[in-house]
Amino acid sequence: MHSQTLRQTTGHAVSVLPVSALLDRYRLVRAASLTLTAPLSPEDLMVQSCAEASPAKWHLAHTSWFFETFVLRDFLAAYRDFHPDFHWLFNSYYNSLGDMPAKSLRASFSRPPLNDILAYRAHVDTAIARLLESQPEYPANAEAVRRIALGLEHEQQHQELIATDIKHALFTNPLHPAYREPSAAPSAESIAPPLDWVSYVPGLTEIGFATSPDSIHSFCFDNETPSHTVFLAPFSLATRPVTCAEYLAFMDDNGYDRPELWLSEGWATSRSETWQAPLYWQRDPATHSGWRIYTLRGWLPLDDLSETPVCHLSLFEADAYAHWASRNTAGCRLPTEFEWEYAATQLNEAPATPRANLLESGALHPIRASALPGLQQIFGDVWEWTSSAYTGYPGYRPLPGALGEYNGKFMSSQMVLRGGSCVTPATHIRATYRNFFPPATRWQFSGLRLARDAQ
Ligand SMILES: [Fe+2]
Repeated sequence: MHSQTLRQTTGHAVSVLPVSALLDRYRLVRAASLTLTAPLSPEDLMVQSCAEASPAKWHLAHTSWFFETFVLRDFLAAYRDFHPDFHWLFNSYYNSLGDMPAKSLRASFSRPPLNDILAYRAHVDTAIARLLESQPEYPANAEAVRRIALGLEHEQQHQELIATDIKHALFTNPLHPAYREPSAAPSAESIAPPLDWVSYVPGLTEIGFATSPDSIHSFCFDNETPSHTVFLAPFSLATRPVTCAEYLAFMDDNGYDRPELWLSEGWATSRSETWQAPLYWQRDPATHSGWRIYTLRGWLPLDDLSETPVCHLSLFEADAYAHWASRNTAGCRLPTEFEWEYAATQLNEAPATPRANLLESGALHPIRASALPGLQQIFGDVWEWTSSAYTGYPGYRPLPGALGEYNGKFMSSQMVLRGGSCVTPATHIRATYRNFFPPATRWQFSGLRLARDAQ
């Protein structure tokens, strides 16, 4: 054990931790991946049901590959690869490291068997512990510490993907099995608080994470930097995300069949994909509302979820809803990512408050907003689509080497989402965090919060 310390960020606060705390965090995060997959059979772990998804078995292997490739091979003397083929077999998209199997083939990886993947994880875990326990005094190995920290954030991203991918996998199974058994029945009479607005007059404001991504004093992804000044005109943000009941009103007003509400690409996509409802909604005449929704806890009638945030929307659906909402409240639109970040920063609270619905809450689905004053559900519940295209901030530089492929090369044709969802690990999200997906994406827990210009 070592007496030296490193600093690690939690939300806005920067705390000082002993280096040994990194190993504790490593073990917690790695164990959480196995906890997530524990309810799944070996057959479940093999399913890859849409282009965005990967089998859970692949996620378990690839997250270990990340530590082996970027930490152990570079920093642990005499480290021996677990298997001579794994360095290319479980590469996801790092072209500068060499060729890799096509993503669509990941469901074909019946070999290596699951036991080998679990042994791979244990092999990597043992080696990381050896590395950390043998470290010379900090900060001589600052780069190793930085990469382990990055590997843990990477693993948490894949934990979220395990949840979203297995939801889609089980939904496509004709039996529609539940990932977890239903919890206590939702209270049908619980009503979400009325949608209200919070007004801001920001002017010039600082956006982005204030510390360099190569610092070991705090963690952020390279795409959250550099922090920079942005001018924001006065705006208002809704106190909570749009609910299923509100979205159903859009559907019942023929929202999916009114081209004047839709972006051109959105209209074309909704027609070609025959969208008439969010992903996971299915007509059910046996329910009062006529709809049921597939969740990680199985089917639930929309009647039980009507006051919860609507999720599994594309950017196109979120944008069309905002246009439709302008019929009653002039100027409704999606917020820019800068408006969202400014408002979230004003909250001045850590993401993982007791009432935040992140992965650890166990709900595995968005829940009804509380009636407390001010912004609710900024962190957790649903990723919130913004109107901002995903690009580099002014002066952005990717990480050096192959890790530069982590975020920077995806800065085209994608839109930014903010705030995390009900399957985002609590220690993984912060106000400056930028998620990004193509605008037609629906398999994530993605919803929307309305914004408008100051009146
Ligand atoms: Fe990855």
